[in-house]
Amino acid sequence: MEVKKDQMWQRDLYCGDVNAEHAQKEIWVTGWCDTRRDHGGLVFIDLRDREGLLQVVFDPSVTPEAKNLRNEFVIAVKGLVGLRPEGMINKKIKTGEVELTAQNLVILSEAQTPPFSVSEPDKVGEGLRQKYRYLELRAPEKMNALKLRHETMQISRNYLSDQGFYEVETPVLYKSTPEGARDFLVPSRVQQGEFYALPQSPQTLKQLLMIAGADKYFQIARCFRDEDLRADRQPEFTQIDIEMSFINEEIMRELTEGLASKLWKKFKGQELGEVPVLSFKEAMNRFGSDKPDLRIKEEIKDFSKTLNKCDFKAFTSVIDAGGCVKGIAIGALPSRSQIDKYTKLVQSRKAKGLAWIKKSSEGFQSPIAKFLGDDLVQKLWDEATEGKLSEGTLFMVSDQWAIACESLGFLRLEVAKAFNLIDVSSDRFLWVNSFPLFEYNSDDQRWYSVHHPFTDPNEEFKDLILSGSQDGLGEITSKAYDFVCNGSETAGGSLRIYQPKVQDGVFKALGLSEEEIKSKFGFFIEALKYGTPPHGGIAWGLDRLVMHLAGLESIREVIAFPKTARAQCPMSLAPSSVALDQLLELGLKIQKPNKD
Ligand code: AMO
Repeated sequence: MEVKKDQMWQRDLYCGDVNAEHAQKEIWVTGWCDTRRDHGGLVFIDLRDREGLLQVVFDPSVTPEAKNLRNEFVIAVKGLVGLRPEGMINKKIKTGEVELTAQNLVILSEAQTPPFSVSEPDKVGEGLRQKYRYLELRAPEKMNALKLRHETMQISRNYLSDQGFYEVETPVLYKSTPEGARDFLVPSRVQQGEFYALPQSPQTLKQLLMIAGADKYFQIARCFRDEDLRADRQPEFTQIDIEMSFINEEIMRELTEGLASKLWKKFKGQELGEVPVLSFKEAMNRFGSDKPDLRIKEEIKDFSKTLNKCDFKAFTSVIDAGGCVKGIAIGALPSRSQIDKYTKLVQSRKAKGLAWIKKSSEGFQSPIAKFLGDDLVQKLWDEATEGKLSEGTLFMVSDQWAIACESLGFLRLEVAKAFNLIDVSSDRFLWVNSFPLFEYNSDDQRWYSVHHPFTDPNEEFKDLILSGSQDGLGEITSKAYDFVCNGSETAGGSLRIYQPKVQDGVFKALGLSEEEIKSKFGFFIEALKYGTPPHGGIAWGLDRLVMHLAGLESIREVIAFPKTARAQCPMSLAPSSVALDQLLELGLKIQKPNKD
């Protein structure tokens, strides 16, 4: 039968959706040729579309063109669905019970041999896969990540709309929005020498919407940050950005947990359970991180009281100087070379060294046992393990509080990976609050916002902010909060400053001059003066959220066309140079970096 080329658009089913219920039906399917096998005069093709694979059997006497089919040819096939004989059922694929016997074949596109096998993209390196991302995405399991992303966005949209949130788009050509990273700048042609900054987040804009009375806003917003990239960071990424007026932290937490609970139930069949709430300080004390991975049960403990009178000078001198001795016990016995590696790790986090006590069937072993004495070693061990471990290792760091916590936090993650201490059976969540408002950078000797400069200080510190004093800034805590999943900051936000004088005080504490405040944020400070409701918000990192829901390790897997670690588009090779007249039009001249 002659088939017109445009007939195949009336595809009846996706390949991956054909099943035993369709047996004896004649259907049209379309897709890409995956593996081909020739057997007994017949040609077997696994036909692939985004939903999966379907085995199609071609008899060359019926469809002679089948002999020409090669990998990645795009075809339309009409055929009869049949049940496979008992021994031929393929349990590995969704459609393994059925096959399609072809009656008509239309070759729509021929294809060159692809640079890697689309059915096994993970057999080649990430570089090649990224260069040909459109081929990688042909593998249904890769495309599934985008489907999950789509569904996550739909559920989030509906969740927020149902609660009265307006979805509002805010400008992308805007002014610097301080979130701590460098800006991506866009030169203006009309006003030469002036630049827009792409938003690091819609932070000031969503606050202006609260001043405007929008009351509940959300946006699935693209954000741009020129910062060092890692597996969980991209230069452009997406937030589910939220802001509400007349709220408190509790309302924000319930809203956040409500969305997480919907998503985890749907995609992972997991109940969220009770989400622990920890202050920054407690999270640091117990886990050495402000985003602890609670799938690891081992916690850090403080041994300063037990050790403040011991004979080991390295400990007592630190304790006497206001520092502490902290430690973590694990039920494993690392080798000497592993301990050396861990010592280097804590030293890379500024700790002076790593003390350890091992307990095995042969008793205690420790380079510091001779200074502590048997009784104290036993006492430390009992305190550290609460009598729960008969064998294992206690690691200790004595240093300033922050260094001791952080270095042991890194060690906790490292030993957990090395000794399989991460319980991967379910995801674990946590709400962290009461972050410090500022952190000091000794390199440029100034204070920076831990979250961003619009975060409200906790009430008891407002007078200090208003006083203009630079003393005690490090002690100020704030109304910032994070939602953490498996040790990754998945959403973060805060209650905002809504009193202009407090906002002014925070800008001044950050070392901004009157002129700088005026030129950078003048419009915003003015807006605060026209009647600002108390408000606050949060932003989910959509990429990180979908990564967790998909159980993947990198956000690149859940972004259609991600950038490389060098912030380059691997397909188009953007960024690239532009024509001279384009530069002239913008009033720009390129100064080549000096190679010396
Ligand atoms: P924050 O900077 O904490 O807050 O960002 C919110 C969430 O966005 C995600 N995220 C990123 N994801 C991928 N690549 C990046 N480079 C990247 N940077 C951040 C994280 C993070 O938790 N305006 C505030 C929110 C608010 O206060 O309401 C903000 O942007 O998952």
